[in-house]
Amino acid sequence: MSLADALIARQHVFAQCRDRVRSRLTRHGPFTLDDLAIATRFPSRTVLLVVADMLRRSELAVEDGRVRLRAEPSMGGRRLPATRPELSAERRDPSQVLASYATELARLRPDPALLWTQRWLTVESAVHRARTVAVGDPAAHPVVLLLGDDDAVSPLIAYLIPDANLVVIDIDQAVLSMLEELARGLRVRITTIHHDLSEGAPPLGRIRPTSVVCDPFPTADGSFEAAFWTVAAALLPEHGSLFTTTQPSHKPLGYSWRAQQRLEELGFVITGAEAVASAYELFDFELTAYERDLVAGSGLMMYVSHTKSLLHAIKVREFRPPADQTDALAVSPLNMGDHYLTQQVGLNTQREIVRTRGPRPKAPAAVPALASSASVRLDPYVIFRPPGPAAAASPGDQSLSALSWQRYEYELAADEEELLTALADGVDLASLDLEEQRLALCVRAIQSWTRPT
Ligand SMILES: C[S@@+](CC[C@H](N)C(=O)[O-])C[C@H]1O[C@@H](n2cnc3c(N)ncnc32)[C@H](O)[C@@H]1O
Repeated sequence: MSLADALIARQHVFAQCRDRVRSRLTRHGPFTLDDLAIATRFPSRTVLLVVADMLRRSELAVEDGRVRLRAEPSMGGRRLPATRPELSAERRDPSQVLASYATELARLRPDPALLWTQRWLTVESAVHRARTVAVGDPAAHPVVLLLGDDDAVSPLIAYLIPDANLVVIDIDQAVLSMLEELARGLRVRITTIHHDLSEGAPPLGRIRPTSVVCDPFPTADGSFEAAFWTVAAALLPEHGSLFTTTQPSHKPLGYSWRAQQRLEELGFVITGAEAVASAYELFDFELTAYERDLVAGSGLMMYVSHTKSLLHAIKVREFRPPADQTDALAVSPLNMGDHYLTQQVGLNTQREIVRTRGPRPKAPAAVPALASSASVRLDPYVIFRPPGPAAAASPGDQSLSALSWQRYEYELAADEEELLTALADGVDLASLDLEEQRLALCVRAIQSWTRPT
């Protein structure tokens, strides 16, 4: 028995998923893989494994890119459209504008910054989110602030509410540049602000947001959500609107209860909730070769990774952090570097994205001070690898690796040694950014301990 077969046969989650696939297909007829993931509220990869297994057992058949039960249910059941009505309506949207927007988005979207938890909303869901904000009285939303917008919802809101003033704050300069270009294409205006929200709200001058839209990364303790919502609470007036996501379908039901508790602590009440209102795309690097083969072999397509629900909340009171709890809402460090997707796409590339697209480190004054100081904490995390086979240095060998690094029993690769040598000898500290300076000082400090003077 293969590992996949054994898991599917023995793990409760697969049995649950299989039951739900059966019941959705029985009640609503054929589904695409994406809509099945949405309707069952299981991660698309779990659904894929279960569907592939059910196809193998001839419990399911594929027809026109949709799966259906082979044995028609005897109880019948009313046939509902396979795709959720609101998604179908958006897919059928005849508007040229939307079509050109989607094409431009595909062209302009920068590589996702996974260390900033970016994952793309499908175009249908982006449109749906923009419509949710714009619905009702457009005059109710004269100033709409988006906290993060890699999904490019802001140009759509600006298009739907032409009189509104749209403002986006994002940590990623590439996202902001994309939004500016999309807005030019749609002939709408948005204001962009490059800022790290974990430092709190940036100065907004005379801009007073009346609505805030955000899509925070879901955390079990609600800390990431709270970092975004704290900014919303600080900037919104009483009765201001917050549109935010929550309840990711790939997490256990109830995963977001702490986040929702924080929402209440921050002075919001939830006035509307729409389940599975946001679908997110799979990355092209996300599936393993095994899963890709399953999709290809089934004759189905798969684009959606998971879904989230959308909340509408109103600010009903001012939030004042209790004096003894000032740091309670600090952002917990999200260890996205350890996440399998970040590893899969390349951690170093991701670090480079953060370095080149993030706001400049906020300490220009500290640069000269650090450059002239030799007191650094030893933290050379980037260059160390696990010890390899002993790289004994011959006596008298004066090379950097031999003299300095052998005491840590690290075997250096050629490119690492080159980097260390450059940092130790050849580089003007003042020309480096803060992080590189720390690293160079660290290298120089170690070198000075071991090199004979
Ligand atoms: C948090 S991400 C998550 C949205 C994503 N579509 C998802 O999978 O849910 C949303 C946006 O917030 C931005 N962002 C992440 N951390 C941020 C921070 N500390 N300050 C400002 N923007 C941030 C990201 O660049 C991205 O554009």
